Amino acid sequence: MQGASVLVWLLGFSLALTTVLAKQGPWVMRISCGARVNVRTAPTNTLWYKDFAYTGGIPANVTQAPSYISPPLKTLRYFPLSEGPNNCYNIRRVPKGHYAVRLFFGLDANPNLQDEPLFDISIEGTQFYSLKSGWTNHDDQVFTEARVFLEDGIASICFHSTGHGDPAILSIEILQVDDRAYYFGPGWGQGTMLRTATRLSCGNGKPKFDVDYSGDHWGGDRFWSPITTFGQGSDQPRSTESGIKHPTNAPNFYPEALYETAIVSTDVQPDLEYQMDVDPNRNYSIWLHFAEIDATVTGVGQRVFDILINGDVLFPEVDIIKLSGGRYTALVLNTTVMVNGRTLMITLHPKEGHHAIINAIEIFEVVVAESKTLVQEVRALQTLKSALGLPLRFGWNGDPCVPQQHPWTGADCHFDRNGSRWFIDGLGLDNQGLSGFLPNGISALQHLQSINLSGNSIHGVIPSSIGQITSLEVLLQNQIHAVRPEIEPSSGRLALVSCLGLDCHSNVCKKDLSYNLFNGSIPDSLGQLTSLKRLNLNGNSLSGQVPAALGGRLLHGASFNFTDNAGLCGIPGLRTCGPHLSAGAKVGIAFGACVIFLLLVVCSMCWWKRRQNILRAQQIIARGAPYAKARTQLSHDIQMSRHYNGHARTAAENGPSLLS
Ligand SMILES: *[C@@H]1O[C@H](CO)[C@@H](O)[C@H](O)[C@H]1NC(C)=O
Ligand SMILES: *[C@@H]1O[C@H](CO)[C@@H](O)[C@H](O)[C@H]1NC(C)=O
Ligand SMILES: *[C@@H]1O[C@H](CO)[C@@H](O)[C@H](O)[C@H]1NC(C)=O
Ligand SMILES: *[C@@H]1O[C@H](CO)[C@@H](O)[C@H](O)[C@H]1NC(C)=O
Ligand SMILES: *[C@@H]1O[C@H](CO)[C@@H](O)[C@H](O)[C@H]1NC(C)=O
Ligand SMILES: *[C@@H]1O[C@H](CO)[C@@H](O)[C@H](O)[C@H]1NC(C)=O
Ligand SMILES: *[C@@H]1O[C@H](CO)[C@@H](O)[C@H](O)[C@H]1NC(C)=O
Repeated sequence: MQGASVLVWLLGFSLALTTVLAKQGPWVMRISCGARVNVRTAPTNTLWYKDFAYTGGIPANVTQAPSYISPPLKTLRYFPLSEGPNNCYNIRRVPKGHYAVRLFFGLDANPNLQDEPLFDISIEGTQFYSLKSGWTNHDDQVFTEARVFLEDGIASICFHSTGHGDPAILSIEILQVDDRAYYFGPGWGQGTMLRTATRLSCGNGKPKFDVDYSGDHWGGDRFWSPITTFGQGSDQPRSTESGIKHPTNAPNFYPEALYETAIVSTDVQPDLEYQMDVDPNRNYSIWLHFAEIDATVTGVGQRVFDILINGDVLFPEVDIIKLSGGRYTALVLNTTVMVNGRTLMITLHPKEGHHAIINAIEIFEVVVAESKTLVQEVRALQTLKSALGLPLRFGWNGDPCVPQQHPWTGADCHFDRNGSRWFIDGLGLDNQGLSGFLPNGISALQHLQSINLSGNSIHGVIPSSIGQITSLEVLLQNQIHAVRPEIEPSSGRLALVSCLGLDCHSNVCKKDLSYNLFNGSIPDSLGQLTSLKRLNLNGNSLSGQVPAALGGRLLHGASFNFTDNAGLCGIPGLRTCGPHLSAGAKVGIAFGACVIFLLLVVCSMCWWKRRQNILRAQQIIARGAPYAKARTQLSHDIQMSRHYNGHARTAAENGPSLLS
């Protein structure tokens, strides 16, 4: 009893402890891609989990890290095109919340793959970054980072091939941040994500992460690029040893050390100007950090400057001491601007006789999150993927319709403005060498208008659930018309390969009767599809009656093709349907017919013999032969027995019977 209560107490205690811990620390997941065991890296003893949750790809060793800010990991995972154009990490059981997601890229140690790959990256179906050529030479381009809301328990991070080398990923970090982190006003929230375009720590000579600055874990371990001059040659770094007031407040938890360095302008060029290249026609959220750390500025009114973005004054007459409430006190200003051109310029323009100062700059691109595909349709496609045995090259990973630049091969997507959801309105999987079957679950693709499975080797029955896809207009499943034998290079065995289009040389092609094709009957439910305009089921192994409703539709101009199906019947152009007989019944009927035939033969032989005997007996009586008496005696006996049976006949009529 006591043991049990101790156990309960321990359980309660550990539960309480985990709750407390959960409250204290943010949720953190770090993956060392390609690693076979968990890894810890110096100097912070950071834990990286061994590789998991990927959809494909190949682990490999890293060539010398492209930059010294990359975590010191030895492996990566790369995704050759043969594994499909879209590959993902689907990390499950991520608590609902707000996260900083960061990915470092790597270079494969294989000397044949040295070129830097360029590819696209999406989170939760939203494409937010494309690697730019030359990224290996820039510290701040060896990774990408975004602040995202993860709502459904899964973080789906995908890499999309653009034909410039194999995507290669060194590490993935998913770090929980405050729910209100980087709130910038209306427009912020679940419909958007913030991609970090740059993050600068001014007046500081070394790249730093929050962790190097002993920052709060809720800050998301930001990376700060060092900058000591804005390039005019007239500005100067400044730093202080004094402590800074109020830097680490929620929701952003900036490290105190960030405010201990700054860049100030001088008399030669009083303006401070920072310029960066950006993608045009996007919205950028800009966060500027200040603290008055210059010993010569001691009170309100001694340093006043305007802040201009691309020439527009967005913050007039900024006085740090006035706004922050004192010297050595942190001040954060944020604004969101739309940038039409390719440059974003931040100018600090001081009042006559003053100098400008700035401690840090953060620039985020505001990325509008994509709507995703209806969950039940994604599931149905995944069922279909395994039922049809879709090869990897299809790249059916991530979301089928988004990012819009990288939809799944063969899935036609349509956006439902009303529901803000994507759905699938067509499947074009013709001539893909598929050989699986159609699963019942296909009916969950409720918006399908067309299914084209021509030229494959899909076999089995047509699932009757297709009759529930009420929008279906076109269903095409034609057999492969020919196959050609080919030696498999790997096994040396002879395999039958479908001849498609011009590949087919008539001398080596032959019709394959055994392999492909739908069999069974056409489900009655297809008759309920009132929108159906085209149904090509020619060249399958279907049998039984074509649903009457389909036959009726023929008259209304719909186009159906049921030819080359030995067993179909019941509509004009096909044979009429007889009663349905099993093989056993057919054997029974044949046997019965034989027995009846034999009986008929025997009976007619009897009749003929008897007739002969009668004729012979009549001849003997007419001649009055010496043996006639004995014969008459015999025939008398027979007659007696017949008489006994109640058939009174004359001796002349009967004569000697066949018993004689
Ligand atoms: C990676 O390096 C380790 C030794 O450091 C070696 O054992 C392993 O075979 C390498 N893997 C590949 C794919 O080259
Ligand atoms: C950013 O600015 C907006 C208004 O421009 C303000 O509402 C918001 O509180 C600011 N965010 C933070 C975290 O200071
Ligand atoms: C930028 O923001 C404005 C105002 O919030 C919005 O109307 C516009 O569509 C946004 N542009 C982009 C490219 O997101
Ligand atoms: C959109 O949905 C509403 C109900 O949610 C419905 O009343 C409306 O007709 C729909 N509009 C369209 C164009 O489908
Ligand atoms: C279906 O695929 C065949 C063969 O590739 C093609 O000829 C036909 O146009 C396709 N039909 C539809 C409706 O997409
Ligand atoms: C259809 O063919 C499969 C083999 O491909 C067979 O197992 C199944 O019994 C067949 N079904 C019917 C209804 O003929
Ligand atoms: C039906 O399919 C066969 C081939 O299986 C083809 O020869 C015929 O022309 C088709 N009929 C129609 C009406 O398309």
